Amino acid sequence: MTSPLYGRDLLSVNDLSPHEIQLVLDVARDFKRRYYAGERQLPLLQGKTIALIFEKPSTRTRVSMEVAALQLAATPLSFNRNDLQLGRGEPVKDTARVLSRYVDAIAARVYRHDTLVELAAYSTVPVINLLSDLEHPLQALADIMTIMEFKDVRRAKIAYLGDARNNVAHSLLLAVAKTGGHIVLASPPQLAPRQDILEAARTTASVTGATIELTEDPYEAARGADVVYTDVWVSMGEEEKAEEKKRMLKGYQVNEKLMELTANDSIFMHCLPAHRGEEVTEEVLEGSRSVVWQQAENRLHVQKAVLALILSG
Ligand code: CP
Ligand code: NVA
Repeated sequence: MTSPLYGRDLLSVNDLSPHEIQLVLDVARDFKRRYYAGERQLPLLQGKTIALIFEKPSTRTRVSMEVAALQLAATPLSFNRNDLQLGRGEPVKDTARVLSRYVDAIAARVYRHDTLVELAAYSTVPVINLLSDLEHPLQALADIMTIMEFKDVRRAKIAYLGDARNNVAHSLLLAVAKTGGHIVLASPPQLAPRQDILEAARTTASVTGATIELTEDPYEAARGADVVYTDVWVSMGEEEKAEEKKRMLKGYQVNEKLMELTANDSIFMHCLPAHRGEEVTEEVLEGSRSVVWQQAENRLHVQKAVLALILSG
């Protein structure tokens, strides 16, 4: 049977239906099980080549994508922006058309989401978002997979605290909406999710039965939460706003006092990298509730699933 994702772009969580998200997670779980059974090499993408372009630094995404490709017998080619003529001003649309003649997929981490949209418009091969200013869909898929390993995602209260207007928060919100879960985002009003993302999530929620709440009160979000999630206060590319954002978000730190309000068996999640002493304390990050390493590992399994479903017919 042909994969419903075959040949498609993945720029946003919203590019996937609830059923397709379920499919990605089913395949990811199967790959994870096989990985632990010693079956790491699955030559499903033999002969395929994937270009990975990075306008910003990356540890998890870059390494897990390269390893995912290699474990599926594909060849990843990673470039920083300045390795390419893109860094000297060659237009995105020209880069897209040229790379499409050589590789089977283009994945990119970019500053502006529009760069991905342009890449996708001119590319004749699938384009995958490795993080933009708007979304981080591969992260959200791994996040949902991780939540499902500990909780019933449709029953759990998921509290996201901090900058609810960033890429990670947006994709998590859309992914929870798609899976019919319950998410409470706590942030100062200026850092609430972007209106278009919120509307998209609410539209999805009206179909899936998801519950979406926004609050300014971190304690209200934390009370009884099964999952507590946070991300950095200052995202890559926002360095000039660093002091202002740290001031705005000071009250949203995830620390032991806040975790005491959560469910007895709550888990703590963070996409990483973490800034200890800012959005989360060392104690919580290293504490028994923290599942951040498992969460990071799941990037590999989810991305193998995404690559296999998009690239093998
Ligand atoms: N979480 C995540 O995307 O990490 P990297 O920036 O290291 O890729
Ligand atoms: N919001 C963070 C996520 C890093 C993986 C950033 O964009 O820097």
